[in-house]
Amino acid sequence: MITALESVEKPETHYCFETLALHAGTTADPVTGAMLTPIYQTTTYRQEAVGKNRGFKYSRSENPTVSALERRLAAIEDAEFATCYSTGLAATSALLLALLKSGDRVVSSQAVYGGTVRLLRQTLAPFGVEAEFVDTADGDALVKALQKRTRLVFIETPANPTLKLTDIELASSLAKQAGALLVVDNTLLTPALQRPLDMRADIVLHSTTKFIEGHNATVGGALITRDANLHEQFLFTRNTIGAIQSPFAAWLTLQGVKTLPLRMARHCKNACRVAQFLESHPRVTRLAYPGLQSFPQFELAQRQQKAGGALIAFEVEGGVGAGVRLMNSVRLCALAENLGAAETIITHPVSMTHGSVPPSQRAAAGITDGLVRLSVGLENPDDIIADLEHALEASAKGGLS
Ligand SMILES: Cc1ncc(COP(=O)(O)O)c(C=O)c1O
Repeated sequence: MITALESVEKPETHYCFETLALHAGTTADPVTGAMLTPIYQTTTYRQEAVGKNRGFKYSRSENPTVSALERRLAAIEDAEFATCYSTGLAATSALLLALLKSGDRVVSSQAVYGGTVRLLRQTLAPFGVEAEFVDTADGDALVKALQKRTRLVFIETPANPTLKLTDIELASSLAKQAGALLVVDNTLLTPALQRPLDMRADIVLHSTTKFIEGHNATVGGALITRDANLHEQFLFTRNTIGAIQSPFAAWLTLQGVKTLPLRMARHCKNACRVAQFLESHPRVTRLAYPGLQSFPQFELAQRQQKAGGALIAFEVEGGVGAGVRLMNSVRLCALAENLGAAETIITHPVSMTHGSVPPSQRAAAGITDGLVRLSVGLENPDDIIADLEHALEASAKGGLS
């Protein structure tokens, strides 16, 4: 018997977020009673007769462990449908290949993950897909961009790495008026902190590599929607391009999701403490954290996010040289490319995650050469602050550059 929690349909009983994160999409194994959904490490499935199978035929199309994760991710975004992919960018690729054809146009936030920009500019442009990158935080700029016929509006809010916000409700109503679909990359906040589908977005995209799995152990992606027709197109495209997630990565992600509500709450609490410390430090010249009143879009953050999130963007006195010295001087924080892990990660977007974004787009989006991105982890915040304090001191020593 399928219970409400296993069902891909909306649960009849509306469980709370924490309960869904733990239980939705899985039940004890019917053969052994094993609590955890097994890792179905198999390519194929024995069929009872020609044309008679149990819903699984070949693991490039679907796999029971991946399906369990899909049911869980759909449930926590309050949606009916999810498809999981080998990486976040595989999810973006499937999305764009499923919905666009030559001559179609995408309007995207100017500040988005660098790989998304590279995919649109370098891989899809030669196939005749046009992308315009605009400041989607500016309603007038979005209205103007949508005057040309557009198929898809792609926003990332908060944007990686500037943390600039886009008003999701406004973007969805403008997209709808223009006959375009709205996609929200919800990687930086997760459904624990932001629910784009409730704000009338059509599709939510995740790099599950980040907070969803949360332990720096897997790469993965997901597309989530309430629209059966869109879901069918994603399933078809995922199969044709062969971009499904592996069962082991899906299994690890299923375990990670269980603690998502707890982790996000602690990430936010720690990030708020660290942001307050940095903001009051004399060597920090510019700081963006959506949970602080000083954040230029604080009112919008309060309206569409449950909390400020785990990311902080800042610059230090002495420009690029000092920023680089700071990143080279941390001991506890890891200088690395990822974000959203249990461990605190510090990143130099211009030389790392956003290196492939053209300098003119970086400049327009406010991704300056001295920008430092901090993904605050789950360590004791006193230890993170002590590490940053020491690195800020060390960053001053090389003089101004
Ligand atoms: C906001 C955002 N979206 C998508 C991606 C791409 O995800 P992946 O690295 O899993 O391919 C990233 C990666 O950093 C990201 O930060």
